[in-house]
Amino acid sequence: MPPVRIRRAEASDLEGMLDAYELVAAEGRYIGGELPVDRTGRGTRWLEGLGDASAASFVAEAEGAIVGTAGVTGTGPSELGMLVVPGWRGRGVGSALLAASIIWAREAGSHKVTLQVWPHNTAAINLYLKHGFTQEGYLHRHWRRRNGELWDAIVMGLPLEDGATEASRQ
Ligand SMILES: CC(C)(COP(=O)(O)OP(=O)(O)OC[C@H]1O[C@@H](n2cnc3c(N)ncnc32)[C@H](O)[C@@H]1OP(=O)(O)O)[C@@H](O)C(=O)NCCC(=O)NCCS
Repeated sequence: MPPVRIRRAEASDLEGMLDAYELVAAEGRYIGGELPVDRTGRGTRWLEGLGDASAASFVAEAEGAIVGTAGVTGTGPSELGMLVVPGWRGRGVGSALLAASIIWAREAGSHKVTLQVWPHNTAAINLYLKHGFTQEGYLHRHWRRRNGELWDAIVMGLPLEDGATEASRQ
């Protein structure tokens, strides 16, 4: 397999990141985004995020292209979104992006990483379980798709610090 480099995203990655996002959005069944992608709006938000100390974007780069991305937003808790383009899946790229995101969240002082995933997205659910996430909730008919359908979502979380919860102190 050609070498894959995981690193923080830079402004010059923008077009490659949008291309990767568009490829996965075109599949129509793994991420929230659907075609047509608002490249200008999304690109502006990503560029703004690069200057935000409470967020981090990572890219997986191989053969001069962006083959995966991960974004972690906020530190209390940190929300994660990620993708690997078709053709590069099943080779450890998702694991590497997720590991980098978790390390960043921990070092940024976040107490938890949280995410949502479609119930049919077995690959992603397995990836998150493998990295210690557990299911914390189930949202019924929660997200409207562009074709009008309402899709369920699973909420998963990874606590990053031990300690008593409010309930356990009582
Ligand atoms: C989910 C996704 C990020 C996984 O990335 P990946 O690079 O393919 O994953 P990896 O190769 O690092 O695999 C790590 C683990 O994920 C799970 N996994 C990956 N592909 C899988 C598949 N096709 N079926 C079942 N489990 C799978 C396994 O637990 C795997 O560990 P293993 O290799 O020891 O079995 C990738 O499939 C993807 O981008 N899918 C489309 C976009 C998406 O779903 N994003 C997440 C939205 S919540």
